Parts: sequence; structure tokens; C-alpha cells
Amino acid sequence: MSNKDRFEFGENWARFLSTLDDKRIDVAKQSLQALIQVNEFKQLRFLDAGSGSGLFSLAASQLGADVTSFDLDQNSVACTRQLKERFCPDSISWNVLEGSLADRNFLNSLGRFDVVYCWGVIHHTGEMWNCLENLLPLVKPGGRIVLAIYNDESYISGIWQGIKRTYQKIPKMTRPIFVAVVGAVLFFKRLIVTIMASCLRLFMLKNPFVPFLNWANETKSRGMNGWHDLVDWVGGWPFEVAKPEAVFRFMRDRDFVMQDFSTSGGHGCNEFVFVRERPVDVSHQAVEEQVSLIRPEIQGR
Ligand SMILES: C[S@@+](CC[C@H](N)C(=O)[O-])C[C@H]1O[C@@H](n2cnc3c(N)ncnc32)[C@H](O)[C@@H]1O
Repeated sequence: MSNKDRFEFGENWARFLSTLDDKRIDVAKQSLQALIQVNEFKQLRFLDAGSGSGLFSLAASQLGADVTSFDLDQNSVACTRQLKERFCPDSISWNVLEGSLADRNFLNSLGRFDVVYCWGVIHHTGEMWNCLENLLPLVKPGGRIVLAIYNDESYISGIWQGIKRTYQKIPKMTRPIFVAVVGAVLFFKRLIVTIMASCLRLFMLKNPFVPFLNWANETKSRGMNGWHDLVDWVGGWPFEVAKPEAVFRFMRDRDFVMQDFSTSGGHGCNEFVFVRERPVDVSHQAVEEQVSLIRPEIQGR
């Protein structure tokens, strides 16, 4: 796919950076720690594959990790470099590169990592499964990979494909209006469903505010900005989707164990955390060690 057909993620990120403050960075750090379930980032080798704005590279770097970031889009790379200059100018343990998940030679040159963070990226590559395959060797045995991939909602995903295609085709000047209209439709659709659920609960003498609370909890932030997220959502092209079971089976067949999973339950990304299994040590010494552990038990019988 030629680069001119792709959504210009970096342009959107550049606008987002002007809204970035310490509060958003703290939210990003918390979301990273909660998702990866690691509190101690010191000494961790962290790869941000498709770094976008660079916010999560910055979060990992401030938490003490040794960070490598890369992105296909030159403007995204520039954003990540800008964040490094702004917040960690003297850091020698944060490396920002331009490269693609489709380029195996580039990926092989990066080494192996304790954590590979690839949030919301592979479904925008145009060759989702190939890119995922390319990325897996970069996870150390015992290391983790975090993925967020658009949920497959069958014909509704088809409608989203149409929305994104339309965004690409209309004149640039009209795009913000298109995004606002799609945002408004989504908002009112959700509002009506929530009010109906609320009335139903009231009728059943249950707490009517629960549907509103659920809505608020669903939109929990990763430190991003609502408008820029929406632009990314409406415009992000190429666009692929996957059912959670397809991702699970793909990873299981490559010796990864699912450690955590949360589903969007509709449009949005399913989040996965997989751990790479350590190879079983069948050397003579390892077998001897295991036998010596159980021998006293056998002799004691
Ligand atoms: C939705 S953004 C996600 C950014 C970031 N991971 C985050 O969590 O905010 C998707 C990013 O993937 C990048 N991308 C798309 N195709 C790529 C590829 N083949 N290799 C590397 N990055 C790619 C885009 O340039 C964009 O910055």
C-alpha cells in the first residue's frame, strides 16, 4: 500500500502534543503499569512498536525502562523525538527510530525485549497477521507482549470501513466536520440506549444510575485526548479487525500464554497481554537436578 493512501497519524499526534501535560503523562504511566502488571520498570527493555505520539515511550522511560520506539510515519517519529527532547533530553536509554513492522531486517536489528508494547498498531499496517508474526521473535522468553486490536463486529466493522474510506476521499478541509458528525451520532446513539436502560431499571425498582456509571467507566482514559482519539478512530486507515479467539489461537500456536484480556464488547480495541513461554530445559544436568529433588521422597517410602 502506498503511503499516500494511509491516514496521516503523525499530523494528528502533532496537534495532540500541544495538549500534553503532567496529568496526562501520569494517567499514561498508571494505565501502562495496570495493563502490563509490572510495577518495577527499572532495567526492563521496552519496545514501543508503532509509538505514535510517543506518550507511552515517555511513560515507560520515566518509569525507568530502557526504551526503543519506532514508527512508520515520519511525523509520528518526529513527535516521539520531540517528547524525548522536551521531557528527557539527557536520556541515553531511550532510542527513537523510523521503521516498519513489515520490515523483518529492521526488526531483527533491534534485539530482544522484556516488554513489547504494540497498542492499536497492527490493525493499521495493512498486513496485520504478517506484521504480528514479524514482531514475535523480539519478545524474550518469559517476556510480555501487549496488543490492542480492533474487535471484529462483522457487518458493523464493514460500516466502519465505509466511514474510514469516506474520510480518506473527502476534501481535507471538510474532514473535521465529518469527524464531528460521526462523533455526535455515536454519542446520541449511546445516550438513547443508556436512557432506555436507566428507565428499565427504574421500572424494576433498581438503581437507575448504573447504566450511566457503566458508560463513564468504559471511557476510561489512557491519557489521550478525546478529540484526537476520535479523529484517529474515524480516519485510521488501513483498517483490519480480529475476533479475540483468532488472536488467542494465533498466539497459542506460537508458544505464547494469555496472561490478561479485556474486551471492548463492541466497537473499539480488545486488549491482550501474552507471555512468551520459556523453552523447557531438557539438558542432562536439568534432568539430574529434577531427579535429585524427587529421589529422597522415593527412598523415604
Ligand atoms: C493508532 S496509532 C497508535 C499509537 C500508539 N501505539 C498509542 O498507543 O497511542 C497507530 C500507529 O501505528 C503506526 N503504524 C502503522 N503502520 C505501521 C507499521 N507498518 N510499522 C510501524 N508503525 C506503523 C502509525 O503510524 C501510528 O502512529
